[in-house]
Amino acid sequence: MLKLVGPFSQIITLADGAIKGPLSDVSLGIIEQGGILIKHDKIVKVDAFSALESETDQHEIISEDQVLLPGFIDCHTHLVWGGSRAQDYTLRMSGASYETILAEGGGIFDSVTKTRGASKEDLRPSLIKRANRHLSDGITTIEVKSGYGLDLENELKILETVKDAQSDLIPDLIPTCLAAHVCPKEFEDKKGYLAFIANELFPALKQKGLTNRIDIFIEPTAFPVEIAEEYLIAAKNNGFQLTIHADQFHTGGSQLAVELGALSADHLEASTEKEIKLMAESDTVAVALPGASLGLGMNFTPSRKLLDAGASLAIATDWNPGSAPMGDLLTQAAILGMYEKLSSAEIFAGITYRAAKALGIEDRGKLVSGMKADFVSFPVNDYREILYHQGSIKPGHVWKNGQQINHV
Ligand code: NIG
Ligand code: FE
Repeated sequence: MLKLVGPFSQIITLADGAIKGPLSDVSLGIIEQGGILIKHDKIVKVDAFSALESETDQHEIISEDQVLLPGFIDCHTHLVWGGSRAQDYTLRMSGASYETILAEGGGIFDSVTKTRGASKEDLRPSLIKRANRHLSDGITTIEVKSGYGLDLENELKILETVKDAQSDLIPDLIPTCLAAHVCPKEFEDKKGYLAFIANELFPALKQKGLTNRIDIFIEPTAFPVEIAEEYLIAAKNNGFQLTIHADQFHTGGSQLAVELGALSADHLEASTEKEIKLMAESDTVAVALPGASLGLGMNFTPSRKLLDAGASLAIATDWNPGSAPMGDLLTQAAILGMYEKLSSAEIFAGITYRAAKALGIEDRGKLVSGMKADFVSFPVNDYREILYHQGSIKPGHVWKNGQQINHV
């Protein structure tokens, strides 16, 4: 059955936006006084509301000023954790470094201890709460990494929590295994740990249908490039898609991501001209994580340079208890845009169709015929109001699979 939703003051379709490189605001593909015709969970047509009115009797009328965008996609989060890291955040505010806290056994290790101590029943409500907060912020697809388990039982527990929670959640969760976050204290040898994960955990992930994505944190304090390579090749040979925490403090990870054809290389705060060029020449999406820059008080990913060189740039929250506790995608994208001098089209593409590309999914991220009917509207009459308010204007309405969400 066809349903027409609208009229919207503007529909930002992003219809003709390119996957790679800089975008001017012409790529916003704006339709004034627009309507969106949907059938079940798919978009049939997007056009002026008046041009679509006769297509169906089923009208979902929007009687106030609203600007419509594709549902946002957060392509990098760590939403399952136990406990809090307020203590190491406070230490970092007074000057302690993230890497030193980690090297001394705190930071990520602290979250590992608390997450290992939590049952699935403990972890599920906080995951649901975080994902629902994202939904009310207009995020209809959320990637979720494991990585605070670091052994078979606990990595499986986290990914099973993600899988089980999906039945209670409206946003789509895209799970990723980050067992290679850091080497657990029980293992002296990083290579040995990764071989163990590849041999023991990979088959279980497949058999239980928990994820088809593998991530690794490449850093001298986590896993150096040489050790990571073998692990990622094993993952690839087992049919997993790759994504990498790369160039956060030291370079190396992004080059490997490009060489192995990873879907995305995320962080890139330390990337130099060399890495920027490599990213631009590849199909690997560069994912900027402004929430981590804000949480660590460090520079932003060189987003302008990446785009100007020709790379595809997505923007994600990295929502996690340590480096990125805020989790507010629109606020962070707006802030990144101002510091890095991005166009509105580059920012919106970064949290919609370019983020979809980072996840290897092609059925969402633009408001065009055939795509999923996931969208979000803001109570304004001009799209420029949205980023101008830096995330403080919240969505008026959110739709997932063609259904308007009433209360989250
Ligand atoms: O993407 N840098 C590595 N991992 C996460 C942080 C995890 C944590 O601090 O708990 C990140 O920033
Ligand atoms: Fe991360």
